[in-house]
Formats: sequence, C-alpha cells, structure tokens
Amino acid sequence: MELRGRIVIVTGASSGLGRAIALRLVHEGADVILAARRRERLEATAEEVRRGGGRAWVCEVDLGSPDGPAFLIEAAKEIAAGVGESHRRRLGLVNCAGITYYGPVTDMTGEELRAVIDLNVSATIDLTRRFVSWLGTGAAAPGTDGAVLTITSVASYLPVPYQAVYAASKHALRAFNASLAAELRAAKLVLTTFAPGGIATELVETSGLDRKFSGSAFLANPEWVARRAIRAWKSERRECVGGLANRVTTFAGRHLPWGIVGRLAERLYRP
Ligand SMILES: NC(=O)c1ccc[n+]([C@@H]2O[C@H](COP(=O)([O-])OP(=O)(O)OC[C@H]3O[C@@H](n4cnc5c(N)ncnc54)[C@H](OP(=O)(O)O)[C@@H]3O)[C@@H](O)[C@H]2O)c1
Repeated sequence: MELRGRIVIVTGASSGLGRAIALRLVHEGADVILAARRRERLEATAEEVRRGGGRAWVCEVDLGSPDGPAFLIEAAKEIAAGVGESHRRRLGLVNCAGITYYGPVTDMTGEELRAVIDLNVSATIDLTRRFVSWLGTGAAAPGTDGAVLTITSVASYLPVPYQAVYAASKHALRAFNASLAAELRAAKLVLTTFAPGGIATELVETSGLDRKFSGSAFLANPEWVARRAIRAWKSERRECVGGLANRVTTFAGRHLPWGIVGRLAERLYRP
C-alpha cells in the first residue's frame, strides 16, 4: 500500500502514539489531518510537519460526542476537495484516539464507562463506516483507494482485570474490523488492526497504570510502536501484534484457558 501522496486522517494526534504515527506518516510522504480536542498541541505538531516541508491540517474535535465523527469526516472532505487531484485519490484513516479506565469495574461511574465506550467503540466504528462510505459514494474522486489502520491493543486478545471495559472495547474493535473486512472483501480497501502492548504515553499516566508499570520493560517507546504499526499497514496486514513479547502473550491468550490467563493477568494488574 502506497503512503506517498495519501491524505491520512489521524485521530488522537495530539499526543502519544497518534502523534508518533502522524510524524511517521509524513516521513513516508503522506499528508496528515491531525484530529483531537487539544488544538494547541495539534497546531504545534502541524507546524513541525510544515517546517519539515510536509503538509498538515488540524481538526479540533471531541470524538466522544455523538456528532464528532461526522464533523471530522466532513472537515476531511473539505480539505481533500481543496488539494490536487492525485492526492484526493488516495485517502487514509488512522483510528488511534482511545482512553482507558484502570481500577475495579464496580468503582466506575456510568459516565466513566460511557466515556470509554463512546470514544473507543462508537466513535471508531462510526468514523470507519463514514470513511468507507465516503470512498464508496462518489463523494471522493473516482478511483479513490482507501486504507484504514485501527489501533487496538494486546487487550483485544485477553481478559484484562481492572481494565475490563477497555478490554471489552478493544475486543469489539477487532470483531468489527474482521466483520467489515469480510463484508467489503471485493472493495479496494486496506483494513489493518494493530495491537500494541504497553507504551510510555499520557494514557498510562492519567489512568494510574504508571504506578504499576512506570519505568518497566513493559512500556515501549511511541516512535518504535509507530514504525511497526505503519509497517504492518503498508504490508496490508489484516491483523498484527507489535513486538515479540506481545505476540507470545496473545498466543497464550488464544491457546490457554481464559480462567488461567485471567488469574495471571489479575495478579499483574492488581492495583
Ligand atoms: N499506552 C498504552 O500502553 C497503549 C497500549 C495499547 C494500546 N494503546 C492504544 O493506543 C492509542 C493511543 O493511546 P496513547 O497511549 O497514545 O494515549 P494518549 O497519549 O493519552 O493519547 C490519546 C489520544 O486520544 C485523544 N483523545 C482522547 N479523548 C478524545 C476525545 N474525546 N476526542 C478526540 N480525541 C480524544 C487525545 O487527545 P485530546 O486529549 O487532545 O483530545 C490523545 O491525542 C489508544 O487507542 C490506546 O488504546 C495504548
């Protein structure tokens, strides 16, 4: 899959893995639409891209709100309409925005539960289907080819005690993408899910996971993870787990009884 000359929407581009993916895409010759809530962060990254000779646009959007995905896709259509014909023919979407909740599931408020599901599941699925119908309805230039990269997690293969809702959200995304790939098998569309393990980002700090894992070998560098995610996408992999240790973990999750895996994970994640 060719990234050069592709306009790619990147959600969660204001920090962590999303920002690293956006910069990596620019390095590969793509143009990026940076989406998240914190405009100043997005503007700073866009400025960095432009200084390096790349093209970047900013879209401030709350994807946790019901209208967020539609707003972002409409903004992307306007941007694509304003650039050259060849660019409009190659479009991409990176679903990276995501949050977690770390702690006993019984301690979660209804609002905290909905925040995880609204962003991780509803917004990601809504964005993906809107992106796919943009490609298919003629709103994009004829011959447009599209590619979607969705960041899931090792948690999409395992039971994850104390992050139960997060794990459920990532399992849902894996199921959605596998189903969509089968539904659209005749279309010229690349659909990749990439599952990283722990990454040293704000998500780990804001959720309190850093109390458990800070400074440990569990946390990879976002740039390292971004390189692997883009490599999997370019190779048109349907599903990829990043890193050998994470592949071993997900292999265990697939082949050992979940009772055993859950007990081991409970010990690892116990707050
Ligand atoms: N860190 C890990 O250990 C780890 C492991 C496996 C998978 N992942 C996955 O990697 C992805 C990126 O996470 P990260 O680790 O890079 O965390 P991060 O640094 O906290 O980044 C999360 C991004 O999501 C955006 N976001 C949050 N709420 C939003 C909302 N309502 N609307 C729009 N954007 C929103 C944030 O931007 P604003 O706050 O500016 O809106 C930010 O750019 C997530 O899908 C996560 O599940 C992370």
